[in-house]
Amino acid sequence: MQDQKRFYVTTPIYYGNGVPHVGHFYTSQIANIIHLSQKILGSDSRFTTGIDENSQKAVIEAETAGLDIMDYLDEMAYKHREVWDFFNFDYTDFIRTTEQRHHSLVQEVLQHCFDKWDIYQGVYEGMYCVWCEAFKKDDDLVFLNKTSWETFPITPKVVESDNLIKVCPDHLKTPDTIKEKNYFFKLSKYQTWIQEFYESHPEFVIPDHRFNEVRAFVERGLEDFSISRETNTFWIPLPFDNSQVTYVWFDALFNYYTSCRYSPQNTSILNSFPLEEKEATDYWSQFVDESHMWPADLHIVGKDIIRFHAIFWPAMLASYFGLGEEGSDWVIHFKTSDREKLPKQILTWGFFTIDGQKISKSLWNVIEPVEYSKEYSKELLTLYILSAFPIGNDGDYDRQDAVLMYNAKLANNLGNLVNRVVVLSLKLDSESLFCEKDRSKYLVTDTEIRKAQEYYQNYNLKWVLDLCFENLDGLNKYADETEPWKLIKEDQEKATESLYALAEWLRQIGLLLYPFFPEKMLEMFEKLWLKGYQEILDWGWLDELIHKQEEFYITEKWEALFQRIDIS
Ligand code: MSP
Repeated sequence: MQDQKRFYVTTPIYYGNGVPHVGHFYTSQIANIIHLSQKILGSDSRFTTGIDENSQKAVIEAETAGLDIMDYLDEMAYKHREVWDFFNFDYTDFIRTTEQRHHSLVQEVLQHCFDKWDIYQGVYEGMYCVWCEAFKKDDDLVFLNKTSWETFPITPKVVESDNLIKVCPDHLKTPDTIKEKNYFFKLSKYQTWIQEFYESHPEFVIPDHRFNEVRAFVERGLEDFSISRETNTFWIPLPFDNSQVTYVWFDALFNYYTSCRYSPQNTSILNSFPLEEKEATDYWSQFVDESHMWPADLHIVGKDIIRFHAIFWPAMLASYFGLGEEGSDWVIHFKTSDREKLPKQILTWGFFTIDGQKISKSLWNVIEPVEYSKEYSKELLTLYILSAFPIGNDGDYDRQDAVLMYNAKLANNLGNLVNRVVVLSLKLDSESLFCEKDRSKYLVTDTEIRKAQEYYQNYNLKWVLDLCFENLDGLNKYADETEPWKLIKEDQEKATESLYALAEWLRQIGLLLYPFFPEKMLEMFEKLWLKGYQEILDWGWLDELIHKQEEFYITEKWEALFQRIDIS
């Protein structure tokens, strides 16, 4: 038997100092859709997510809440999982960076990089934004006018004053100025290696315009960066100097690898939550080594953290895995086999605003994905977020537009039609819905099926949706032309022909839409009396299923698949 293709997709691990909002939901939903699409297309797919706990802001928030840091983080981790479980995300692992498995791996990495002189001691003097958990330079900041709350770029002409302060553009807060003993990672050593890697792998970051930004940054010259902090006590201690702890990114990025090296035996372990740190032997027996799943096929990240993923991360991996080759010029060069240890691709999305405004708690426009879905529908959120703008671009979430789109596409075009097929089929004389007529006229064409599969493989999720909804338009047109509601009284054979065509067509579209709306599509299959579809899809048999010819035994009228939302 041919080896099953393996696939590994990750979301960033979200900071554990707040509950996920719609921006986080967006990433996790993209990852889940890609994971499910890979599964149904036959890959052995793994999907990881989790929380980034070793951060100063979590410590600050816990103190503010008057809680012990671990109690606070346990609660946050629980809340994050509650959100993802509400959406039924099919994650393979939920990693917490306070876990022993992760500490152990990060310490192994640090020691290894230190032993090969890629980590050295120095003094860091400069700015640090706790809220970004990142070191800052003047170029990274903006001026904030404290009276008008306007921000503008820093130029030599304008000077700092009482009213005009330099702040981080994302958090509008003044970074801390620090001077302390730190350890540094020799990023500069990998300058040529990274550039050669990028040149030979133009597919590494998508979309292209984001890769161009990364390249331009690298061309300006890479500087070594600090990987430790002196003042914090909570994070992972450096194995070679206990007075220092690891700086967040060196720790956080390795979560992607920890999760493979120490992969949960099965997902039920995640339910005995938080993971019990039992006696050493017991603890480690909860995991299996799945390092063969490395490298990740896809990291999904926001544009704000692309530099960490596209520059720091490959260099850190190069150091850990001993990639590259020293040339006669003493410079490290990229070698073809290095590719096998590096993530295949990074998919970057833009930021979106809500009703034209930046997402902000003070503007009351934060969409809490669970609350919002309970009020409207899960599918509305997914549909709009993935069809309003292509992944990679900045976009706007227009709440009114979202409801209109849901009503038109899901409630009307899809839901109504399913309902009609069910209700009319119950009026047929025959027990089942089946017809031998030529199917090629009305089904999703083979070319379209291939296209949809290709879009999934290239992560063009919006195009899959567009293709499916164009087909649904065609389907509704076919229904209007053949008028099965009239035929049912006049000509049962013709009515059967029309209804059968509609049911088969809906079945195929349902299969293609499954990764987006798994629960609703299974409900639709159920209504059409199609059994065992989830298992068959989990086995990766989309292709077989989509070309199959089904016979429908529709026996009852059900509740509408999608309730219309009253816009008023
Ligand atoms: N903990 C780091 C990631 C470490 S990964 C090794 C982190 N966490 S975060 O919680 O701040 O952000 C996670 C992701 O959510 C980021 O990629 C960020 O881009 C994304 N988003 C936060 N707000 C967003 C929007 N308004 N719109 C789209 N995505 C946004 O960074």
